[in-house]
Amino acid sequence: MSTRPSDFRSDTVTRPTPAMRAAMFSAELGDDVLEGDPTVRALERAYAAWVGKAGALYLPSGTMANQIALGAWTHPGEEFIAERSSHVVQWEAGGAAALHGLQAQTLIAPDGRLEPTEVERAIRMDSIHCPRTTLLCVEQTFMGDGEGPGGRVVPLAHLATLAALARAKGLHVHMDGARLPNAIAASGVSAARHAACADSVMTSLSKGLGAPVGAMLAGPPEFLVRAKQLRKRFGGWMRQAGVIAAGGLYGLEHHLERLKDDHALARSVAEICERHDGLHAWPNQVETNIVMVQVARHGWTPERLTDALAEHGVLTMPMSATSVRFVTHLDVGPADVERLERALAKVLG
Ligand SMILES: Cc1ncc(COP(=O)(O)O)c(C=O)c1O
Repeated sequence: MSTRPSDFRSDTVTRPTPAMRAAMFSAELGDDVLEGDPTVRALERAYAAWVGKAGALYLPSGTMANQIALGAWTHPGEEFIAERSSHVVQWEAGGAAALHGLQAQTLIAPDGRLEPTEVERAIRMDSIHCPRTTLLCVEQTFMGDGEGPGGRVVPLAHLATLAALARAKGLHVHMDGARLPNAIAASGVSAARHAACADSVMTSLSKGLGAPVGAMLAGPPEFLVRAKQLRKRFGGWMRQAGVIAAGGLYGLEHHLERLKDDHALARSVAEICERHDGLHAWPNQVETNIVMVQVARHGWTPERLTDALAEHGVLTMPMSATSVRFVTHLDVGPADVERLERALAKVLG
């Protein structure tokens, strides 16, 4: 058996495949801040075409892409609406407030489907006493807070309803599509149709697509002017970045179809977990590559289960006070799921 751990912690842990490394090795390079890096430009064109937007920027991370989008669509003192556990609210170190002077109004939607009537109610009245509500953030797929199934696909019709409502009220819509490729693989709905429900969209290259670094941010021309200025201000404009962008381009061109395999494997993980007393994994609601497992077994906590599995070479991540997250990706396969099955049997009996 290999000594490599079976790493279900996150889809960010993948290493570039030999073919991706070859593409990176032979990428044509230039100074992106001066005359432009041809590989970065090619990636930006390819992503913009894929999501049907005027243009796109290659950025170091999904967090920077989300933060640039927040800053580009808003002004200090304004308010944005987002789900309470969404990445932009919970996992970006308070960037919206610290970097842009924004206030978040959070709503609760455990499956990521913000209720349109609640969104409408959350939009502030036009009054000198109130912050202006100027942005709605949606997350596709929706990670979730660990208290229910994760990696949910927000249906296109729902996104379209939210977009129509937001636009009618003068709000812009930003889509955190870190895992948009997974939503496409699960739903069969194209990236462009998803992105049409948002004014700007970001996608991680370093998750399901398997690239080592980077995220894309796309939008209309006036948005890109502000976004480019923020990229400069954050120090996110990289020089011969084609060497890493080539990995992203390779992932976009070659790793979309295979995401369905990750989703099938995630369902197996959920079924295996569900067979153990006190573990709940909602196997029928696993739509993409994320499995949230509630640990409701006497004497067990997410940390204890994580530590016990690690002793058998299976890595996973505590997600909340009661849940553990398993994520499938390019670097885990059926043999890793079998190893998990054996490890769970040893640990829980
Ligand atoms: C939904 C979502 N949005 C944004 C991000 C941020 O991506 P990055 O880790 O590249 O900053 C993540 C990363 O885990 C994510 O899960």
